[in-house]
Amino acid sequence: MNRIENLTAQLDKGPPAGQEVAKVARNILQFLGNRDKPSIAVILGSGLGGFEKRLTDSIVCPYAEVGLPTSTVAGHAGNLVVGKLQGKTVAVLAGRAHYYEGHDIQTTALAVRALAVIGIKQLLVSNAAGGLRPEFTPGDFMLLTDHINMMGANPLRGPNLDALGPRFPDMTKPYDGEIIDKFVQAGKSLGIDLHKGTYMALSGPTYETPAEIRAFMSLGADAVGMSTVPEIIAARHAGVRCAAVSCITNVAAGLSDSLLSHDEVKEVGNLAGKRLSDLFEQTIALI
Ligand code: HPA
Repeated sequence: MNRIENLTAQLDKGPPAGQEVAKVARNILQFLGNRDKPSIAVILGSGLGGFEKRLTDSIVCPYAEVGLPTSTVAGHAGNLVVGKLQGKTVAVLAGRAHYYEGHDIQTTALAVRALAVIGIKQLLVSNAAGGLRPEFTPGDFMLLTDHINMMGANPLRGPNLDALGPRFPDMTKPYDGEIIDKFVQAGKSLGIDLHKGTYMALSGPTYETPAEIRAFMSLGADAVGMSTVPEIIAARHAGVRCAAVSCITNVAAGLSDSLLSHDEVKEVGNLAGKRLSDLFEQTIALI
């Protein structure tokens, strides 16, 4: 038995959540046929949409056909695209399942867990976020150095999937220092400045109140958003090295005179798309 067969066999014998991970992993493998398996996965948040078009020799696995949840958010596609980029085999998750859509928190991490079974070693994530620091302007990027999980939920809740990782995973270094350095290096070569900071994940779908933002500032948050943390937790559980970049799409609630809107978030995200895609591609070249 090879590593993947061994893992899926173990998952099949365990709790239903693990059987589901094994099923999705097998479905993806079937799509891949005898192509190379990805070593890097990228999750596209607002702003990175279209990044999957940079892959060559790619194959598209629609989420519905591999047993992954389809996103209800307008403008978020639902495809897993696997192909070549900068000499590496990369899996791009174009579209993600958000907790605020009503998915179980476990479901938001299903794709990452299936890709961990297939053997990805690194996970690179992008998201849209509100900025809490005065020096953050819409269009800026922030590399995550840590996070605060304020979603009130954890994707590892329930029986542990022992085949993937331990019951009580260490979270001292959620974001990998070496990959962070590669992002910084890539940013320098492209003339893209990167802030560093702590991302706070909230369940949404409401944006925050000004009082919440003041409270979160005193708790140490530099940016707030509604994604990323479940995927990072699931990846770290399975030993996958992670990095994430927030596109600061707006100043957080109450820190400017304007109100928040999803249209503004999408617009700033789309404008940042090419630079963010360049940054991710150059980082992939370096890792
Ligand atoms: N708050 C939460 N999520 C977000 C924001 C915000 O201000 N901007 C983009 N996603």
